[in-house]
Amino acid sequence: MRSYRFSLLFFTSLVIFLFPTISISIDSLTATNFVTGNQTLVSAGDVFELGFFNSGDSDNWYVGIWYKNIPTRTYVWIANRDSPLSNSSGVFKVVDQNIVLLDQNQSQVWSSNITKGNNNVAELWDSGNLVLRDAGDPNNYLWQSFDFPTDTLLPDMKLGWNLTTGLDRYLTSWRSLQDPSSGDFSFKLNYQGFPEIFLWNKQQIRYRSGPWNGLRFSGVPEMEPVDYLVFEFIADQDEVSYSFSVSNNTLFYRLVVNDAGTLERLTWINDAKQWSRFWYAPEDQCDYYRQCGPYGICDANASPVCKCLRGFTPKNLQAWNLRDGSDGCVRKTDLGCMSDKFLHLRNVKLPQSTTAFVDRNMSLVACEDMCLRNCSCTAYANADISNRGSGCVIWFGELLDMKEYSSGGQDLFVRLNASDLGKFKIFPFSFSYCLFFYSNYYQNEKNYNVLLGHSEINPAIHLSYN
Ligand SMILES: *[C@@H]1O[C@H](CO)[C@@H](O)[C@H](O)[C@H]1NC(C)=O
Ligand SMILES: *[C@@H]1O[C@H](CO)[C@@H](O)[C@H](O)[C@H]1NC(C)=O
Ligand SMILES: *[C@@H]1O[C@H](CO)[C@@H](O)[C@H](O)[C@H]1NC(C)=O
Ligand SMILES: *[C@@H]1O[C@H](CO)[C@@H](O)[C@H](O)[C@H]1NC(C)=O
Ligand SMILES: *[C@@H]1O[C@H](CO)[C@@H](O)[C@H](O)[C@H]1NC(C)=O
Ligand SMILES: *[C@@H]1O[C@H](CO)[C@@H](O)[C@H](O)[C@H]1NC(C)=O
Ligand SMILES: *[C@@H]1O[C@H](CO)[C@@H](O)[C@H](O)[C@H]1NC(C)=O
Ligand SMILES: *[C@@H]1O[C@H](CO)[C@@H](O)[C@H](O)[C@H]1NC(C)=O
Ligand SMILES: *[C@@H]1O[C@H](CO)[C@@H](O)[C@H](O)[C@H]1NC(C)=O
Repeated sequence: MRSYRFSLLFFTSLVIFLFPTISISIDSLTATNFVTGNQTLVSAGDVFELGFFNSGDSDNWYVGIWYKNIPTRTYVWIANRDSPLSNSSGVFKVVDQNIVLLDQNQSQVWSSNITKGNNNVAELWDSGNLVLRDAGDPNNYLWQSFDFPTDTLLPDMKLGWNLTTGLDRYLTSWRSLQDPSSGDFSFKLNYQGFPEIFLWNKQQIRYRSGPWNGLRFSGVPEMEPVDYLVFEFIADQDEVSYSFSVSNNTLFYRLVVNDAGTLERLTWINDAKQWSRFWYAPEDQCDYYRQCGPYGICDANASPVCKCLRGFTPKNLQAWNLRDGSDGCVRKTDLGCMSDKFLHLRNVKLPQSTTAFVDRNMSLVACEDMCLRNCSCTAYANADISNRGSGCVIWFGELLDMKEYSSGGQDLFVRLNASDLGKFKIFPFSFSYCLFFYSNYYQNEKNYNVLLGHSEINPAIHLSYN
């Protein structure tokens, strides 16, 4: 059991007298060490602070975590955002196994809701994580605030799924700048198909990150790791999650869904004493979900922004001409299946991939072949674009929400009736052929002949001069 930092009543009253704004803090939460009134819980390195606050001029009181040394009060987590206290005299402490919040009448308004452990004790870590553990078994962590985010993703905090337990960690905006209750916008990872993260406005998709392509989200071409900021995406049987870490502990970064429905990455600028927004989405018209409908592709630098993919034509020409692209495009020519060819698009945001098929071990050549043999396959791409590309993603049905970039996107191969590619004579070989050749030739010249053989066996796979 830890003691108060200022244990002498005499001393604390002296401090309060001399420095009226200073607060009294504790370093762990137990049954007898609690947070109430102006008292706060402070992390060991003085980075984060937990305590009561009220927002705006309301009478609603909350327990939250904020940066201790950042003068602009910034809340990174709130325990009771949807069940505020009407009076500041609440108590935040550990009762039996749980961290609980009691109101002025000692009734429980919030609980960590677990049923494990003994003599549990909670600590606030310098990462901003409030962690509950078994006092007798210090390595037995039972609950953490990082698993129940509000609107903020801090470094080392995971967004997404623990597939073993079914825990889904996602961000939900504040209702307004002054009101921390759950707002309409959320940022939620969908692990189905080829996983990606969606920004929702209530039940409607507002923006899509695009799937993780090994380097970045397909829809965030400007996402470049720097030496002190590293992005991590994990997709295996146990979890599908996104996180970032910051190696320099003097730098503060956070990812937030704000009350206006914008996803923002912010960093604290110490000289200017303010948060700087260095990335946000949706940024341009093309970031809004389904801007150009099925088989439409959006280019923010073009006017109009929407165009149909080669081989497609506007479904509703009248609306399209009025710059409403939402109906998208339809094929000019029906598919013929095994005789079809693939249109090679570069620098695109991959289409919505919730129902896509993924095999991380297949080569692009095998991917093309698999797509061609399944007549409902409409497109394919590499699952991972790092190290010259690997893996296979296959789309069935309509291709939605594509965007074209001037740089930083990736390659996508879209199935067309060969007759729609006939006018398109730029590439003598398919891209996969070139890529495979390129990546293998220098390692093993024999592969060259194997490849030639391959192209003769399956001439339909490759684009022809026609
Ligand atoms: C808590 O802080 C408020 C404002 O800073 C102050 O008015 C009040 O007296 C403080 N209460 C205690 C118990 O220190
Ligand atoms: C909070 O409620 C308690 C108990 O009802 C009361 O004694 C106290 O004055 C209230 N405090 C404020 C700040 O309203
Ligand atoms: C606390 O108890 C008082 C008196 O029993 C009651 O009037 C008040 O509504 C209660 N407050 C809360 C927040 O439950
Ligand atoms: C705790 O569990 C109860 C009952 O399952 C539920 O009503 C309540 O909302 C939960 N509280 C939190 C903070 O999850
Ligand atoms: C999922 O949650 C369980 C139970 O808390 C934990 O033991 C496991 O390590 C978690 N898995 C991952 C991948 O985080
Ligand atoms: C951390 O960042 C600060 C501020 O940018 C810089 O002065 C310092 O050198 C960095 N430290 C390391 C270890 O990179
Ligand atoms: C599709 O292309 C094939 C040649 O690959 C052609 O014979 C067929 O007529 C085309 N289908 C349609 C519906 O035009
Ligand atoms: C994919 O390849 C990795 C390493 O090459 C291997 O460990 C793994 O078992 C393969 N997975 C499947 C599904 O074939
Ligand atoms: C094509 O793919 C779909 C979706 O995965 C699958 O349901 C269907 O059986 C496949 N068809 C063939 C011929 O493999």
